[in-house]
Amino acid sequence: MMKKVLYSALLGLTAASALGATPVYLDDTKPIEERVEDALQRMTLREKVNIIHAQSKFSAPGVPRLGIPEIWCTDGPMGVRPEVLWDEWEQAKWTNDSCTAFPSLTALAATWNPEMAMLYGKSLGEEARFRNKSMLLGPGINIYRTPLNGRNFEYMGEDPYLISQMVVPYVKGVQSNGVAACVKHFALNNNEINRHTSNPILDDRTLYEIYLPGFRAAAQEGDAWTFMGGYNLFRGEHASYNPILMNDILKGEWDWDGAVVSDWGAVHDTPSAVKGGLDMEFGSWTNGLTNGASNAYDNYFFAEPYLKGIEDGTYSETELNDKVRRVLRLTMRTVMDRNRPFGSMGSDEHVAACREIGEEGVVLLQNRNNLLPLDLTKTKKIAVIGENAIKMMTVGGGSSSLKARYEVTPLEGLKKRIGDKAEIVYARGYVGDPTGEYNGVVTGQDLTDNRTPEQLLQEALAAAREADVVLFFGGLNKSNHQDCEDTDRKSLDLPYGQNELIEALAKANPNIAVINISGTGVAMPWAKDVDSILQAWYLGNETGNTLASVLLGDANPSGKLPYTYYASLDQCGAHKLGEYPGHKGIDALGNEVWDMPYNEGIYVGYRFTDKNKLKPTFPFGHGLSYTTFEYGKAGIDKAEGSKEDEFTITVPVTNTGDRTGKEVVQLYISDKKSSVDRPVKELKGFSKVELAPGETKEVSITVKGSDLGYFDAEKHAWVVEPGVFEALVGASAGDIRTKTKFNIR
Ligand code: GLC
Repeated sequence: MMKKVLYSALLGLTAASALGATPVYLDDTKPIEERVEDALQRMTLREKVNIIHAQSKFSAPGVPRLGIPEIWCTDGPMGVRPEVLWDEWEQAKWTNDSCTAFPSLTALAATWNPEMAMLYGKSLGEEARFRNKSMLLGPGINIYRTPLNGRNFEYMGEDPYLISQMVVPYVKGVQSNGVAACVKHFALNNNEINRHTSNPILDDRTLYEIYLPGFRAAAQEGDAWTFMGGYNLFRGEHASYNPILMNDILKGEWDWDGAVVSDWGAVHDTPSAVKGGLDMEFGSWTNGLTNGASNAYDNYFFAEPYLKGIEDGTYSETELNDKVRRVLRLTMRTVMDRNRPFGSMGSDEHVAACREIGEEGVVLLQNRNNLLPLDLTKTKKIAVIGENAIKMMTVGGGSSSLKARYEVTPLEGLKKRIGDKAEIVYARGYVGDPTGEYNGVVTGQDLTDNRTPEQLLQEALAAAREADVVLFFGGLNKSNHQDCEDTDRKSLDLPYGQNELIEALAKANPNIAVINISGTGVAMPWAKDVDSILQAWYLGNETGNTLASVLLGDANPSGKLPYTYYASLDQCGAHKLGEYPGHKGIDALGNEVWDMPYNEGIYVGYRFTDKNKLKPTFPFGHGLSYTTFEYGKAGIDKAEGSKEDEFTITVPVTNTGDRTGKEVVQLYISDKKSSVDRPVKELKGFSKVELAPGETKEVSITVKGSDLGYFDAEKHAWVVEPGVFEALVGASAGDIRTKTKFNIR
């Protein structure tokens, strides 16, 4: 072995030094594929095995001898995680790694604005680049199948089309910095409960129509350079090296040339990982070794065991070479690209992006008597109530937790914005989670409060009675079971007695607005008793400034829900039919798994409430403005066409209010005559338009006939059946304003 190493080293150096030329693999004027092949043939077997598994918590070794750099990666989808110690989750306590914390991805999805997704990805990618990371472990785009999923706040909602439109620009934005986006968690990691043993059971039609499209768009249109496999199982194998997902679909049908990385600790054996399409192993807790044992990396499934397996002929070098090619390609697209930008961190542009995305993502759910925006000529005393008005939220929630440069809380933002124009009285109202620490990062807040619930209630009611307006800031808080990785919610209800408190406050003062800060839907039994409701998401550094801007009308809200706001879990297919969280089962190897039948099939979100004629609290795509919009009659460019044709639907939309606003015009398509059961309607297009008061715009949305079919599992193909289709245009899935029919022959 040594002789071979020496010989190839000499060969390499001789050739290069003799010609004085840069070796092809180092010459970034050469096509990447040529460079990959040149590097591959120079590498020893051990170097090939080394490059495909981690050397530390968040890095892989590269090939030092050849000057092929290490790959450094970092969480997460909403900001660049603080540096951790070599092999620890604990932060390294650096002093230069405080980041811009961007709004949660659900907030981004709620903008329904692909330009915001591009801005988001570019800005976040600049921070990852500045921190010299080659791979950003995001975006997460698992489907909002249940409102209880602990990581819904990290994802982009329930609808595959909306996700597809938002994930592509995000990926392109990140990668424009020479940093790989890592789309996760491929696939079906749609819950956190039993996330390592969950075994979703679903048919191909459900898989292809609901759970794959966002990932396919990221791979084929976004050209994502890496994907991260999930922890869960699927048809007998772990997602991170599932031959169906990784080999047949991602690398086969989608012809994807990127690198698949495991989730951290998602690899459980060598043979399956070798043949299941995994390319890089991270975070393993290997056989017989405790977490982080000093020589754990030598014992990774893709380390000594794999090397020995190749040397003894158990595995061929062919599979290994494919993995190595993909990792080399990743390296050359990122850290070996001398032309990539240098990035930036904590810039004014990133702060502005955080604010702009947040303002466009906040959703005005209800504004019964136009209590909002607050009018400070009339409102002279404001009661701000609720723990979420003062609690910092950038810390916590799991691997997406951040060490933000700063965070403006809602109360701080309001005080700054309002100044002496009105009196603000704050009352806590309830004590939820007074802590503020994750992996060694602390908020520095001391939210300890030993008062009794009754004392807190009385203080809040007194403040409410004395005020002109009550602003209640509640919701969840990224603590366990409250929007947090590895734990699902236990119910749809707000925690800490908030429902009762809101009801009491509404009785004390009907001029109440509830600002719900959460990344997932909650039950709102008090919706009929309050005036206004704002869905405020986790908004990052600029939380308080963003919310003050919307509440005072500096920004006119234009967000739309990226998921259905169920009144109860009975309105959600995963719970009504889907057996969430599933039941104990045994896999082919006799291991205990958690079978999770997706009995609801494709009927997720509004597809389920439409089919069952259910009225959610607020429908998918719902969101109000401080102005109003009127839709004219929908027209279509052709009454008939083939499935190869495009159909353009045009609707005049007018701003009938007194201030400029943005409207998301949504296009749903209904197949009126189908041989299979299909949803009442499905989102197939949208357009966000800004209109001045009185202005009318002709909004056109084009769909391809070929995109209007269903997935036929038997044929393993998309099928568009001839017949009548209907275009439904509206302001949400529950607010269709105009329709028009067309025929596909
Ligand atoms: C976590 C998460 C994944 C994250 C990774 C590294 O378990 O599932 O999203 O990127 O490990 O922290």
